[in-house]
Amino acid sequence: MSRPRLKIERPDFGGPFPEHIAVIMDGNGRWAKGRGMLRVFGHKEGIGSVREITTECAKMGVKSLTLYAFSVENWKRPRQEVAFLMELLEQFLVDERPTLMDNNVRLRAIGRIDDLPEAALARLRETEEITAKNDGLLLRLALSYGARAEIADALKRFARDVAAGKVRESEIDDETLRRYLYDATTPDPDLLIRTSGELRISNFLLWQISYSEIYVAKECWPEFRRPQLLAALEDYAKRVRKFGGLVSDTPSASEARA
Ligand code: IPE
Ligand code: IPE
Ligand code: MG
Repeated sequence: MSRPRLKIERPDFGGPFPEHIAVIMDGNGRWAKGRGMLRVFGHKEGIGSVREITTECAKMGVKSLTLYAFSVENWKRPRQEVAFLMELLEQFLVDERPTLMDNNVRLRAIGRIDDLPEAALARLRETEEITAKNDGLLLRLALSYGARAEIADALKRFARDVAAGKVRESEIDDETLRRYLYDATTPDPDLLIRTSGELRISNFLLWQISYSEIYVAKECWPEFRRPQLLAALEDYAKRVRKFGGLVSDTPSASEARA
């Protein structure tokens, strides 16, 4: 029996709507500490936001959502916190399967995935497989991800291909380099959101966010839900993207020229 198709309802703020949203999910620890709880409770509560933002994006017809879940630098955190996060990931990858299926979401991971504990890696591969045929939202989880590591990994593979005569140095351009990144097929993020008010990138998608619009939410990740997502989308709708060019190509400006 085929699944009922998801009804897509896109909010209209009278301007552009992002096809790819990337999120630096920050502030779990601060959210918990502010409530007199241990940091790990913030991570647990953050799962609720992952579920809500994923399903909302799926229902709004967003094409890709990339969530920064664990950075290569996060391995430096206390052993117990890292272990908790890995168990949470493992549990998430099993528990969310019905929600991912109901919302036609395909899961893919980017990062140094082989660094993950065996059990989490196995659950990840299973969930990728189970959701592989879904053709709605692509949910990309950045796990053991670092943008500098991604570029280093790309260069290693590129150098190998040059040595094997598969590609020539003279062929290097932006698009050739893109082919060597973790996920060559997903277009760059249109909108990059960071929660908890921090004004930094923390080694996330450095290459891909060259022209992304940035939005910083003051809320910590566990409290970033549908209303906060709508506020980000409303703000995005007012942005004018130029990619280094001029806005003179908008209809009103060309009319003015005519
Ligand atoms: C984000 O929240 C989750 C991860 C980085 C895994 P943090 O754990 O960074 O929380 P804060 O920023 O310390 O409050
Ligand atoms: C970025 O948050 C990484 C993730 C959200 C997974 P961090 O909390 O690790 O970043 P810094 O240390 O504040 O820059
Ligand atoms: Mg943080």
